[in-house]
Amino acid sequence: MGRKLPAGGKLVLASHNKGKLVELTDLLRPYQIEIVSAGALGLPEPEETAPDFAGNARIKALAAATAAGLPAFSDDSGFCAAALAGEPGVMSARWGGPDKDFSKAMALVNERVGASTDRRAWFVAALCLAWPDGHTETFVGRVDGTMVWPPRGDKGFGYDPMFVAEGREQTFGEMDPDAKHAISHRARAFAQVMRSCVE
Ligand code: IMP
Repeated sequence: MGRKLPAGGKLVLASHNKGKLVELTDLLRPYQIEIVSAGALGLPEPEETAPDFAGNARIKALAAATAAGLPAFSDDSGFCAAALAGEPGVMSARWGGPDKDFSKAMALVNERVGASTDRRAWFVAALCLAWPDGHTETFVGRVDGTMVWPPRGDKGFGYDPMFVAEGREQTFGEMDPDAKHAISHRARAFAQVMRSCVE
């Protein structure tokens, strides 16, 4: 059992990514937690120097919790292609370039995978809760599926239009948010956070 978040308390969302903020806010809506975004508090974005999702999630949550003096919640996530040995992985945001252009990032994945018949892909999300005293709780969720080309759908964000989860036909980009939340990597990690840290 992890450390609990106080009911009715404030929580800093330690992300500047609009797509993630929308999804995390949706997931937190049923709980009595007041959310403030790192952007609204003017918190800087720390450098993500860890080699894995969990490490980067911890860096972001701890930086925000320490700076704000409040518990903070972060997400580090990415898209992984089997034919690229798990790339772009923790570099998923950086493949979008300085303009965060994910049409370009998806085209780059497609080009690098080339003619490989291995179309397996997965998303991973590490969610971290950090407290100002340095305590952290980290949870990881994953959803497996296949990559498709061309991309389809304009819902969601990032690599959603090129990913079809196992047993589904629509891409994450074509799914309504609730359908994505029922199976996504982020929702799977989130369910663990709630079981462990929220009463
Ligand atoms: P970071 O966690 O801020 O390093 O960024 C993760 C990147 O992975 C995002 O900018 C997206 O491009 C991608 N990503 C993470 N989760 C999702 C998702 O649910 N759908 C689509 N792309 C995602």
